[in-house]
Amino acid sequence: MKVNVAKRPGHYRTVTFDSQNNAVCLIEQRLLPHRFELVHTPDFKATARAIQTMIVRGAPAIAATAAYGLAQGARAFRSQGLEKFKRHLVTVYQTLKDARPTAVDPVNAMDQVLAGMSPGETVLEQQALALAAAEQFALESVAHCEAIGRHGAKLIRNGTRVLTHCNAGWLACVDIGTATAPIYTAQAQGRKFHVFTDETRPRCQGASLTAWELAQQGVSHQVIADNAAGHLMQRGEIDLVIVGSDRVLGRTGDIANKIGTYTKAVLAHRHKIPFYVAIPLSTIDWNLKSGFDIPIEEREESEVLGAWGILADPTRKTAQAGKRAYVRIANPTSGARNPGFDVTPADLISGIITPAGIFKPKELWRKRQQLGHPGC
Ligand code: MRU
Repeated sequence: MKVNVAKRPGHYRTVTFDSQNNAVCLIEQRLLPHRFELVHTPDFKATARAIQTMIVRGAPAIAATAAYGLAQGARAFRSQGLEKFKRHLVTVYQTLKDARPTAVDPVNAMDQVLAGMSPGETVLEQQALALAAAEQFALESVAHCEAIGRHGAKLIRNGTRVLTHCNAGWLACVDIGTATAPIYTAQAQGRKFHVFTDETRPRCQGASLTAWELAQQGVSHQVIADNAAGHLMQRGEIDLVIVGSDRVLGRTGDIANKIGTYTKAVLAHRHKIPFYVAIPLSTIDWNLKSGFDIPIEEREESEVLGAWGILADPTRKTAQAGKRAYVRIANPTSGARNPGFDVTPADLISGIITPAGIFKPKELWRKRQQLGHPGC
């Protein structure tokens, strides 16, 4: 995606791999929108930490990171025996899988890498195949987002007011984004529309990341407080909701996404506003039978009790102005509960925008062959 860094335009992908140094290269998303920095993770443990600490985040982006992390761990193995290599791979796989539990994409991505390695008869062959498979996953992920854009853009007309939640943009993917793909495609097709982005407490991915992306792309947008969406819907100021997802159940059509998505879906249903979920194929979980079985990540209470940002002082240039800081917001003696995701049931969802077209949530299982079910 094109970004202006220090007023100079450049093209960046969220996740890439430096094969010479066996390092995964990531955009440090915790510093955005105030600073643009790239980081390199030197080994698979550091890659897992980058996922866990949200240097990189968003289901398709952590999927590509895990795929490269698995290849990175495989390539770092310095012995010959295939049995020992397999045991090492189990450790690498598990470390990356455990970094964040809700998104299914990292698991699907790593399974794809393992399948790509399997024809290799030696450790060396498997190491080479691992990187090729990870690259392949990342490229496919970009192609999926392009296709989501083509299918989803027809939902956006001149004058449409779109609501989105969290960041399901190019930062959450390798490039382009899922929920933002229809937006960018509609923009490229010359349509004029407006996007409301929920701030998305507690980590504020909407206010910091989606808003930054939309500004970089010149898309008309405003940040709204999470609690403002109901009011705008009631007044007829929102025509369409598009969100991403961290796990879509292929058997039921239920979806997990950033906390607050369920609330928006209930509101959209009440106000008869179409509610769409945009996903690459790696987001589909073909195994789980109920949304209640999706593991919901519980994160640190500090995220709810305070917020990160930069210290701003518009009137005086103090030494502290512009510095990144954590500010305590809540009462000092109170604790917090911080579930990172919620589950939206299929009956609240108008359609799932996939690279293969737009489907009703309940249609996914019937269309499983088209949607890449591994058994088909
Ligand atoms: O906790 P995050 O920032 O990794 O969560 C990401 C989301 O839930 C996004 O909303 C997104 O839709 C899923 S990734 C395209």
